[in-house]
Amino acid sequence: MTSVYLDNNATTAIDPRVADVMLEKFLAGPTNASSQHAYGRRSRSELDSAIESIGACLGTRLDQPNGARLIITSGGTESNHLALTGLGDGGPIILSRIEHPSVIATAQWLEQQGQTLRWLDVDHDGLIKVEQLKDLISIDGCNASLVSLMAANNETGVVQPILQAAEICRVSGVPLHVDATQTVGKLPLNLQETGVSALSFTAHKFHGPAGVGGLWLATKMKIQPVFHGGEQQLETRPGTEPVALAVGMAEALRLAVLEMKTSTEHTQMLRDRLENGLTQRHPDLIIQGRSHSRLPGTTSISFLGTDRQSMLMALDLVGIACSSGSACSSGSSPPSHVLIAMQRSSDEIDSALRFGVSKFSTVDEIDRAIESISIVYKRLQKKTSVDN
Ligand SMILES: Cc1ncc(COP(=O)(O)O)c(C=O)c1O
Repeated sequence: MTSVYLDNNATTAIDPRVADVMLEKFLAGPTNASSQHAYGRRSRSELDSAIESIGACLGTRLDQPNGARLIITSGGTESNHLALTGLGDGGPIILSRIEHPSVIATAQWLEQQGQTLRWLDVDHDGLIKVEQLKDLISIDGCNASLVSLMAANNETGVVQPILQAAEICRVSGVPLHVDATQTVGKLPLNLQETGVSALSFTAHKFHGPAGVGGLWLATKMKIQPVFHGGEQQLETRPGTEPVALAVGMAEALRLAVLEMKTSTEHTQMLRDRLENGLTQRHPDLIIQGRSHSRLPGTTSISFLGTDRQSMLMALDLVGIACSSGSACSSGSSPPSHVLIAMQRSSDEIDSALRFGVSKFSTVDEIDRAIESISIVYKRLQKKTSVDN
């Protein structure tokens, strides 16, 4: 049985061209970019080139003294944590109800330390109610100190109105942090034009290595570090920089941006084929967020009358890898906070699975997935109705 990987929103396979570049760096000798000897100077120059290349892909110059800058982190979770804890002045934080757990949990931890949270709602199809933002920014004369919103949701793929939010924040003078973990490398981005203050991303979502990501900061944005003890990265994120990982991230992003048009057409075609193939066989399926603009390769489908965890495990047994949306380490997954925020019915929430295709997915894989998912769905739907 050849398996079909449809969990590309969780992580993507590394592009072999990226792996080759990294292997060369790993084997080229020691890489401590802070060392003063020749090895160190070479590493510094490779790291700087990687950072400049990432900047060029994101539409921002990163080589200007006192200009915008990129902090290399271990990934999206760390970038989000650093942004939420390090930006702003300790005043209220605004976030939406569909943010990634790395944002929500950090915000709730800050709330336990006494900080106030203000929540932005979403509509029934998973789009944030950006018009609420203005009212939330200023309540009883108390201004928010930070707004944190995601560029696209990791479960439904719904692309959020970040430009509109950035304009509202700009007028109010409140910094906007964007968790762009699901869009960097997938959707065009020009940081020069967005008006955001900080932006998180991670390499493993665009066929780069896991364990490295970035937090971009606009000019003049000051940030409090989480770690202390070294001078690297202007003391905002001390610790020896992972040069080979950063070089890999830069190469993965360069390729993703270069090939974005083809990848987008391909993943959208496959996602649509999957959705159409399944809904033709099962008109009762509900596709979440379909009325809004979505990430090209993402779909969240409710298989009414089944339980998502049983579906997930049954699909795994026939070689189809997908996700129940939430991170799951214990073998059982909590109901999706995203679908709850969208006020979907309990049947829709209980039976929702997320599928994500990538540039490496094929038509043959999608056709096999449609057959297998259809068989499993019919079997489990029947079983549920008998059990009931
Ligand atoms: C929207 C979003 N933010 C943050 C993260 C966390 O990224 P990482 O796994 O690199 O820590 C993810 C990963 O699932 C994500 O989808």
